[in-house]
Amino acid sequence: MSKIIIKTPEQIAWIRKAGNLTARTLDMIGAYVRSWVSTLELDNIMNTYILSNGWVSACIDYKGNNTWGKWGYPRSTCISLNDVICHGIPKADEILKEWDILNIDVTTIVDGYFGDASRMYTVGEVSEKAKELIAVTKKSWEIGIAEVRSGNFFGNIGYAISQYAESRGYSVVRDYTGHGVGIEFHEEPYVYHKAEKNTGPKMQVGMVFTIEPMINLGKYASKLDKDNWTAKTKDGSLSAQFEHTIAVTEKWYEILTVA
Ligand code: MF3
Ligand code: CO
Ligand code: CO
Repeated sequence: MSKIIIKTPEQIAWIRKAGNLTARTLDMIGAYVRSWVSTLELDNIMNTYILSNGWVSACIDYKGNNTWGKWGYPRSTCISLNDVICHGIPKADEILKEWDILNIDVTTIVDGYFGDASRMYTVGEVSEKAKELIAVTKKSWEIGIAEVRSGNFFGNIGYAISQYAESRGYSVVRDYTGHGVGIEFHEEPYVYHKAEKNTGPKMQVGMVFTIEPMINLGKYASKLDKDNWTAKTKDGSLSAQFEHTIAVTEKWYEILTVA
């Protein structure tokens, strides 16, 4: 039996508020992403911004599940540099430099409701390969989002994303997925970014979930760092990701993580 929560319009209104704060945080931090800044400084700026809006980050102390780490997450945001796929922990001695690419992932809690989103940022000039990876990741994400409508299979999101990314020579991370979100940080279902056509549950009006493909320049395999959070590409290749929180609506869908 499916335990996918159907949200009421009132609940979605709160998730939209959280999504709005998340999106504004990601907008705000753009101006601070440059050479010589540490990822911990960026994390602190974002945490201060969220707190000054009267709400909190969902990440601090988050326990996740066994595959993600035994201890609570130590920071307010995830910053995943270059070959880090996701869940990079901001650090005082991790200093940005020209050519770096990074994903910043923010989840806020507004009155108990969660909004989860991430974007890519670049530091100064980056390589053509990095630019193409980011462009293909973004396009695959948009193609996946276009599959969201009541009655469609969740599997068609991952089918569309993987068809696009793999046909261009990139690989789709399988060890981390999108997820239901809103009342909890991570709810059912898993939203796979690589899937077979017409598989999985069907989308229904009132479902709220993330689509957050992680696309690698090399192979899809990941490895977990000793810190039990940071996921990196096994082959050391660059990885990119974009994420939105999305609701299925009567008409089509609504992206909730917008400023
Ligand atoms: N925001 C991440 C996601 O998209 C989860 C981060 S969990 C944390 O699902 F504890 F690392 F913050
Ligand atoms: Co997410
Ligand atoms: Co996220």
